[in-house]
Amino acid sequence: RKRVAVLISGRGSNMTALIAAAADPAFPATIALVVSNRPDAAGLAAAAEAGIATAVVDHKPFGKDREAFERVLDETLRAADIDIVCLAGFMRVLTPWFVERWTGRMLNIHPSLLPAFRGLDTHARALAEGVRLHGCTVHFVVPELDAGPAVIQAAVPVMPDDTPESLAARVLTQEHRIYPAALALVASGAVTLGADGRIAGLPQAQADGAV
Ligand code: GAR
Repeated sequence: RKRVAVLISGRGSNMTALIAAAADPAFPATIALVVSNRPDAAGLAAAAEAGIATAVVDHKPFGKDREAFERVLDETLRAADIDIVCLAGFMRVLTPWFVERWTGRMLNIHPSLLPAFRGLDTHARALAEGVRLHGCTVHFVVPELDAGPAVIQAAVPVMPDDTPESLAARVLTQEHRIYPAALALVASGAVTLGADGRIAGLPQAQADGAV
């Protein structure tokens, strides 16, 4: 089984979904480590309760030196013999130096149907645009922010009376479903990121857009 580190900054509900999925012995990955860049992240306690090793790499002491922070993060992951990194509400932009070290082995979940609504405040922006469908994307991480190819996407309807909070809750339910499914595809080796930057091995239903 592939050894996975989940990187968080906060609540950690996607982390919890990954831990729950990986509790099945048939799942092709084990959650070996949870790392937070914030010592007060609520997800750290949830991970510890689930018996998962945790680490804190606080970005604050490194100030503006992103690479110094990332060197410690990288060492932490390598010391734990990590194969795959899952960003799950990890709210630090990673430099090309770090991303390139983990290319093809790092996933992120983003709360929009990429390439729509890269960046922050996706639900409020979706409501402001008046889109009728919104959703979430699990994608391979590439140096450009929120730009990597999608492994799985899920769509939800936007309701007339939605607030950013109600829409976020509807999307989050789908995040918890597709992140474990996408990790299983990558950890099993079924889906890979090719040298050409494109995804190989997607099941036909996914390639056709049906989730
Ligand atoms: C999730 O909705 C995730 O998609 C989003 O933050 C939330 C974290 O929740 N990620 C981003 O916005 C990344 N830019 P969680 O800590 O409960 O998983």
